[in-house]
Amino acid sequence: MRTHLCGLIDESLVDQTVTLCGWVNTLRLQSHVAFVDLRDHEGVAQVVIERDNAEAFAVAGELGYEYCVRVTGQVRKRLSANDKLKTGTVELLAEKVEILNAAKDLPFALHENPNEEMRLTYRYLDLRRPQMQHMMRTRTKLVRALRRYLDEAEFQDIETPILTKATPEGARDYLVPSRVHAGEFYALPQSPQLFKQILMMAGFDRYYQIARCFRDEDLRADRQPEFTQLDMEFAFVEERDVQDFVETMIRKVFKDVVDVELAEPFPRMTWDEAMRRFGSDKPDLRLDLELVDVAEALKQVEFKVFAEPANDPHGRVAALRAPGGARFSRKDIDGLTQFVAKYGAKGLAWLRVDDISKGREGINSPIAKFLDDTALNAVLAATGAQSGDMVFIGAGRWNVVSDFMGALRLKVGKDLELFADGWKPLWVTDFPMFEFDEDAGRYVALHHPFTAPKVDDVEQLAADPGHAVSRGYDMVLNGAEIGGGSIRIHRPDMQSQVFELLGIGAEEAEAKFGFLLKALKLGAPPHGGIAFGIDRIAALMAGTESIRDVIAFPKTTSAQDLMTDAPSPVIEETLAELHVRVREQDTQA
Ligand code: AMO
Ligand code: AMP
Repeated sequence: MRTHLCGLIDESLVDQTVTLCGWVNTLRLQSHVAFVDLRDHEGVAQVVIERDNAEAFAVAGELGYEYCVRVTGQVRKRLSANDKLKTGTVELLAEKVEILNAAKDLPFALHENPNEEMRLTYRYLDLRRPQMQHMMRTRTKLVRALRRYLDEAEFQDIETPILTKATPEGARDYLVPSRVHAGEFYALPQSPQLFKQILMMAGFDRYYQIARCFRDEDLRADRQPEFTQLDMEFAFVEERDVQDFVETMIRKVFKDVVDVELAEPFPRMTWDEAMRRFGSDKPDLRLDLELVDVAEALKQVEFKVFAEPANDPHGRVAALRAPGGARFSRKDIDGLTQFVAKYGAKGLAWLRVDDISKGREGINSPIAKFLDDTALNAVLAATGAQSGDMVFIGAGRWNVVSDFMGALRLKVGKDLELFADGWKPLWVTDFPMFEFDEDAGRYVALHHPFTAPKVDDVEQLAADPGHAVSRGYDMVLNGAEIGGGSIRIHRPDMQSQVFELLGIGAEEAEAKFGFLLKALKLGAPPHGGIAFGIDRIAALMAGTESIRDVIAFPKTTSAQDLMTDAPSPVIEETLAELHVRVREQDTQA
């Protein structure tokens, strides 16, 4: 159908006759000549259609943007080269122009920036845009590089079921009703977690899978209801075996796919340190700002907002120096206060440092009057504040303050343009095993319930679960959690104990995870692994903020596919066959 690709014609083809296929990217019709920029996935070629060629010129008159076209003609050198175009030194003098398909009533022009609703509704048009082509191709290269690496390392690529039993990763399950078993449901996997562990028990030693995962959770730019993991598991390993292997792999694929050299080795940080210094378990180290704990200096002040958490073992008072932040207006500060309120902050205190040499006189702040000189100076000294800075102070419960001050750190860094360029990977380790969920009144697993604790002893774990540290680890890159994994529990007594601590009684554990507990009793080897978020890595590589840009057919933030209009109602007969009845009050709401 074609002899060459539009984006690849060059001077070596001058005087040759070629046939190109593609889409009309731009169109200029003049009285004697028509210029068409024809685009395919490789790029754009200029086609010239002269009036002398009456037949072709007539076809040119019918063309419109995004028409699908086939052109045969002779390559010639351009009179004036267009150095913005890879093919800019040549053009095609058309002999024959054929319309393969029209594109009438185009909903948007591709070179304009259509809104996301339009883009997702007409995804095929959106994806035709060169930047989208580029991003999707980056994803292909990433997956190809990962596969190549793991195939060479003799990993087994094994598929695990999509119709399965619930695997808890902390989100809600998508359920599929069974027609054959009335009233029973499959769950779509939140991850292949239990199957990959069982593959280790089955003797496969090294496993990987490019696996689709399904989680019914609140969506954001970095979360989709279905997403793709590079899922991996290793038998007979400890933390460093897994970490060293995948760190080398990630370094290699970044080099191969985007020519980026990541640090060797990746820095490592415990969860505790990450929360203290950055208020986040996925710190973005491109930003050279840190939280400073100032509780010690504020224990004696009369201002209760600070003194109470400063004296509470579960409290935290943290300060953040924003270099150059004195230029924030009152309105900016109100905006930041509203911003941190979304993370649970009850308020945000601030000290504007107009002139550090003048002591209290050089500070503008509604709360400075509540602090004596010793406290004020101690806070300023601890943050290293300079004239022209702003110091923010957050106080309250430890995890709430860490959260909102961590978010504030990123926001302020963005607003003041303090992010450095480049790539900052790290490992975060030593996560707490459990987190106490106030609402549920019980512990929940920070990773998942199959993650091993550092202590080997079941009784020791049960004695102080609140302080137990897990053998989990996350890989973080530029503030994104790109991978998470752990050494797993491989002993049935420990697994039962962890279930119990999570409020899963023996009976429930048997019903939900009986197969796992049984397998653990039949010679399960020590094992561990990790899963990487392919979408997140691809987005980072492609330089986009949203993983939707590297997923061909993503869902909206309300979990809809605007192109196919899913989800959608089904007819009564289908529901009856599945033994499902829709509650009317739910659909009317
Ligand atoms: P985890 O839940 O941390 O671990 O997931 C692993 C990685 O998958 C990516 N990810 C997501 N990407 C897009 N949309 C989502 N909704 C989403 N959720 C997670 C992240 C994350 O780091 N079974 C364990 C892995 C293991 O222990 O081996 C698991 O799924 O990049
Ligand atoms: P209030 O006592 O609520 O009137 O607050 C007095 C000052 O303390 C205001 O400037 C608030 O923004 C600030 N503030 C209140 N709560 C907090 C908090 N949890 N952390 C930091 N500053 C706070």
